[in-house]
Amino acid sequence: MARVGFIGAGEIASAMIGTIAGDGHAITVSRRNEEVSARLERAHPGLRRADNQEVLDASDVVVLCLLAETARRELPGLRFRADQAVISVMAGMSLDELSRACAPATDICVAIPLPPLPLGGTPLAAYPASRALAELFGPHATIHACPSEEALNAHFAATGLLLPLLDQIDVGATWLAEFTGDRAAAASYLAGLLGGYCRMLTAPDAPDLARMRAGLGTEGGLNYTLSKALADNGTPAALSDGLDGLRARLGLPEKTR
Ligand SMILES: NC(=O)c1ccc[n+]([C@@H]2O[C@H](COP(=O)([O-])OP(=O)(O)OC[C@H]3O[C@@H](n4cnc5c(N)ncnc54)[C@H](OP(=O)(O)O)[C@@H]3O)[C@@H](O)[C@H]2O)c1
Repeated sequence: MARVGFIGAGEIASAMIGTIAGDGHAITVSRRNEEVSARLERAHPGLRRADNQEVLDASDVVVLCLLAETARRELPGLRFRADQAVISVMAGMSLDELSRACAPATDICVAIPLPPLPLGGTPLAAYPASRALAELFGPHATIHACPSEEALNAHFAATGLLLPLLDQIDVGATWLAEFTGDRAAAASYLAGLLGGYCRMLTAPDAPDLARMRAGLGTEGGLNYTLSKALADNGTPAALSDGLDGLRARLGLPEKTR
């Protein structure tokens, strides 16, 4: 059991607390965002709300769940301890900047959780490796160890694929509902279908993606025809260009070829 503190009580803090709340840890969360922190207190007996410094003082592991610009204002006024582990989930705050803001703490990692985390199995990209992260979230998530901070930032960029993928389900559900009259059932059908393939791809004995695509892409078949229509109108290239367009924001090098 660990003493875990969450600085910031918004969407991602709620998801992370919901993930580990049943594990017997002593959890303290910033009182900030009265509505969210009060809901967390009601939902998780034993969870305590406190001001930010009290959260730090009560914790061996501190999870930073602020917007980066808030963190730049707030963290310098807080007293961290050298024996504390820090997990930041904040996009746009480098390890270098975190090291200065959280000194004298040195056990610092950055992780990218996403709101489905409490459902289990959601990958948690992280750098550098952190024992605290593994102990707290390893039982609930697949920790995806990144080889460098740059690779972690590329994972941040890749999470931008989520909305474009949901957009495709949205278009498909609208189309399917023309025939069924039930858009929610259509969305659930398509998400379930896609989910099944995603589970195959994330299983320990996962087939190769290329093999799975080849299996679906029999020439002249339905999948082949639709995939070719998208390729012909430039959709995959637009997606790749769109990812490249996120490089500068995440401090990634420009594309060289
Ligand atoms: N949401 C995601 O899916 C996701 C995924 C990965 C990473 N992240 C990262 O997680 C961080 C938080 O994102 P979020 O979506 O959870 O944002 P959010 O819902 O806006 O939560 C931010 C929280 O910070 C609180 N806050 C503001 N000023 C504060 C202060 N001085 N002291 C303590 N708390 C303060 C806010 O309280 P008030 O509402 O009272 O202002 C709010 O509870 C961001 O850096 C984001 O990049 C988010």
